[in-house]
Parts: sequence; C-alpha cells; structure tokens
Amino acid sequence: MQIKVENLIKTYQQSKGSAHREVLKSLNLEIAEGEKVAIMGPSGSGKTTLLNLIGTLDVPTEGQIKVEGQLISEMSSEEMLYFRSKNVGFVFQFHHLLPQCTLLENVLLPSLTQKGDKKMFIQHAEELLTYLGVWEQRNNKPEALSGGECQRAAVARALLNKPKILLADEPTGSLDNKNAALLIDLLVDINQKMNITLIIATHSLEIAQRMDKIFTINDGKLVKWEQ
Ligand SMILES: Nc1ncnc2c1ncn2[C@@H]1O[C@H](COP(=O)(O)OP(=O)(O)O)[C@@H](O)[C@H]1O
Ligand SMILES: [Mg+2]
Repeated sequence: MQIKVENLIKTYQQSKGSAHREVLKSLNLEIAEGEKVAIMGPSGSGKTTLLNLIGTLDVPTEGQIKVEGQLISEMSSEEMLYFRSKNVGFVFQFHHLLPQCTLLENVLLPSLTQKGDKKMFIQHAEELLTYLGVWEQRNNKPEALSGGECQRAAVARALLNKPKILLADEPTGSLDNKNAALLIDLLVDINQKMNITLIIATHSLEIAQRMDKIFTINDGKLVKWEQ
C-alpha cells in the first residue's frame, strides 16, 4: 500500500496540566506500494510515534496520513479499528506472546475478531509457522522457546490477517546477532513474496541498508533521506 505523510505534527502532554511537547514537527514522507523502508534516528526522536500514527494506534495532532489515497488520519475509531485489523501487522521489540497460550494459539489471536472459517485460519497459521521455522514448536508455550523463535512466532501472528503493511518497531532490539540476521532475512523475503509494504524502525545501519530507502528523523523532523 502506498503511504503519504503530509505536514504531520504530534504533540504530547507529559502529564495533566503540563505544557504540550511537539514530538513530530511537520513531517513529510512518501512510501511506495510494496516498498521496504527504514526509519532511523536517536532514541526519543519520534520513530515509534510515527509508526503508531501510520498504524492508526494513535491520531495526529495536525497533518495528514493517506494510505492508498484514503485519509486514515481522519477516520472514526471504528473505521481505524477496521482499517488496522484488515491492513496492518505489528512487530515490536519484545514478542508480547501470551505466556499461557501455545505458539499456534498465539498466532491465531488476530483471527478472534475476524469472520471466517476457523479451519482456514488454523491452516494459514500453520503455513506461517512453517515458513518462519517454528512449526515444530506450535504446541509449546513461549517459555519453552528461544527469544528468536518467539519473535518469529510474533511475525507469524502479525501476518495472520494478511496485512498489506508490516510495521516493525526495533524488531531485533532484543535478539542476538544471529537471530537478528535471520529475522531480517525473513522480513525482507516477506516484503518481496507477499508484496507487503515494510516499515522498520531500527538503530542498526546494517539493517537499514538492506531496505530500499532510509528516512532519518531527528528531533521530530526528517533530516535525511537516502535511497
Ligand atoms: N504517550 C506519550 N505521552 C507522552 N510523551 C510521549 C508518549 N509517547 C512518546 N512520548 C515522547 O515522545 C518522544 C518520542 O518518543 P518515541 O516516538 O517513542 O521515540 P523513539 O521511538 O524514536 O525512541 C519522547 O520524548 C517520548 O518521551
Ligand atoms: Mg521507539
């Protein structure tokens, strides 16, 4: 999906009564359909804020976000919920799998809010777990798995509803080098094979350089744009 961010401003109020702080200061960027891009920048520069706005987890203070020409920044919360569950997958620094559920159950969680044949969801979940190399662990709980395996199961969960946009917020931040490299290989492959627009916030230049474009933000502004 094509994403266009125009004059995006986000302010937060740290606590009630305190002054508003501008975190994103009129940000502009464009991401083409099926493209893979990195968002870089120091801690606190607004990377997570930007991903949350694109993923409709939060709403802008000012400015616009268009996805395929559709103004997502002006949707009602019901419309955002529908847009998000249909189009967006999220992967975070930590896997956030439910400890009391098996891997397969965790991957199936997004299907709970969807209509459709349960058997089809299970089949798709198993295909994704196979593709991500953790199918044999499907009946185990996260505690029995390594961090890398859990993160790959979290990617499977993010893909269950066949999103068109995958937002990965420092997805290798808690992994060792080997597992980080494996995860990035998989994300790049997913972007190509499934035609999913991939946006990855990362501190790693090595990871960023594997993307089509690198956007660097600093203090809420786009300071660099590399292709
Ligand atoms: N919900 C929030 N309420 C108040 N301030 C926030 C909130 N979320 C983020 N911030 C602030 O916005 C700034 C940018 O945060 P963030 O987008 O998480 O940066 P990054 O992901 O680049 O580290 C930080 O100073 C952070 O403290
Ligand atoms: Mg962040």
